[in-house]
Amino acid sequence: MLTGADISPIYREYAAVLLSNEMWRDALAGIPYERRLLLMPKCLRVEAKCPAPFDEFGLLCKKCGLCSIQDLQEEAERLGYAVLVAEGSAIVMSIIETGKIEAIVGVSCLSVLERAFPYMEAAAIPGVAIPLLQDDCIDTAVDTDWVWDVIHLTSDDRTYRMDLESIRREVDTWFLPQELDGLLGPAGSETERIARDWLSRAGKRWRPFLTVCAWRALTGDPDAPVPAGLRRAAVAVECFHKASLVHDDIEDDDASRYGIDALHTAHGVPVALNAGDFLLGEGYRLLAESDAPPETVVAMLRAAADGHRTLSLGQGAELVWTRNPKPLSSLQVLDIFRQKTAPAFEVALTIGALYSTQMDDDLRATLVKYSESIGMAYQIRDDLEDLAGAAGDVCGARPSLPLAVGLERGRAHDEHAAVLAPAWARQANTAEAREAVFRALAALKVEDRCESLLQGYKEEAIRSLADLENPSLKGLLRRVVGKIFNDLEVKGWCGEFEARNAAGRATRPDVAG
Ligand code: IPE
Ligand code: MG
Repeated sequence: MLTGADISPIYREYAAVLLSNEMWRDALAGIPYERRLLLMPKCLRVEAKCPAPFDEFGLLCKKCGLCSIQDLQEEAERLGYAVLVAEGSAIVMSIIETGKIEAIVGVSCLSVLERAFPYMEAAAIPGVAIPLLQDDCIDTAVDTDWVWDVIHLTSDDRTYRMDLESIRREVDTWFLPQELDGLLGPAGSETERIARDWLSRAGKRWRPFLTVCAWRALTGDPDAPVPAGLRRAAVAVECFHKASLVHDDIEDDDASRYGIDALHTAHGVPVALNAGDFLLGEGYRLLAESDAPPETVVAMLRAAADGHRTLSLGQGAELVWTRNPKPLSSLQVLDIFRQKTAPAFEVALTIGALYSTQMDDDLRATLVKYSESIGMAYQIRDDLEDLAGAAGDVCGARPSLPLAVGLERGRAHDEHAAVLAPAWARQANTAEAREAVFRALAALKVEDRCESLLQGYKEEAIRSLADLENPSLKGLLRRVVGKIFNDLEVKGWCGEFEARNAAGRATRPDVAG
């Protein structure tokens, strides 16, 4: 099927692996953990620093934490897997021959996977394979989320059937202008048109997506159509978020968003302010008109109101700071992030959970912790993007994490401290002063520190799910972290593979490209 299709050889191999995985998935899920083997390649390690020795079975991980081998090995062994960090089909075959292993989860480069398929077929051993992200044969990486999902597969685990991409696509369609008109009723005034246009215009729709994810995982049926009331609730969540962005752009004097004019740039501050207010009203109306039981409606309204208050307190802390700007520690900046960015995620997940009527105190506490961690990570990433794009925010338009870290790191360096001080006083206004700030932040390696904080919050989000009882929600929220933060792509291919492809292209022009 794939040989006939007009796709590049690189993707054809990749697609073949995905197809094979789908074929084996249920079989793997039916085999107990203790009869499975996790096979990882040694190239996942950091070659120059890896302290691990080898024996006849492969690498003996020293758990130094430099690469992903340790985490994956520990988790798989905890479940009961046999784990090998080795290459070569001989060793795998000898293990299969012992009869103790009935399924394999293999991490490998495509060329090795391709060679392994015939062996697996011959032995009728179910195998699910996770291709490496790049095939350099040295210091490689793998989508650890993907491996994690696969090693946890069991036959009563339905999380894998929840296709996050199709949820996203469905949510996106709800914001098409005609769909919004159907949901909200005809726009009878210019104010409604302006607000609705803004709602439909752009955005990643993470928050309504999270509402649907929480509901779907908790109700447990991956194929049930989304009820009208949940759709209204999800749109309400986006109304709140978009309103906060309209107001935020006015408060921060940001002239553009999504690469186009911000709403107040297009319509003036008074009209934009009012459109934001209108969206807040729409959000509350959509929740109040929900088809959910009355106590659920009250709880959803309360969740929205709490989030709205906390967000305004976070925004307020930032805005009050601008009246009397002074240096803040990174902890103080992170506290502001906790208030201003986490609530929208919390409201989204809480409302989805409430609508499923499966909410209890433990679940609520987990959702709060998880939202806080992804909110923090999200805002740190936003700051890092500003840093990469040399945006004004980093230079003290608002308290930013890079600037706080810069100040902390720059204490021992007078020349850097002198450059950063005016930024903290919101006085780095010339292009020259800004460039100096960016140079100082680069010299102080501020980006590395922010990156590691971002990583830390992502990990905290995963850890916050430890006590979650519902396995579908647990798996789904873990995958969501990967979705929001790791826009992973296949990065490249090893020389051997590319050479073979080039040779193939030369002799078989019909399948090229
Ligand atoms: C912007 O959120 C506000 C921040 C917390 C950085 P998004 O970047 O998710 O905005 P949309 O949803 O794509 O519009
Ligand atoms: Mg702001």
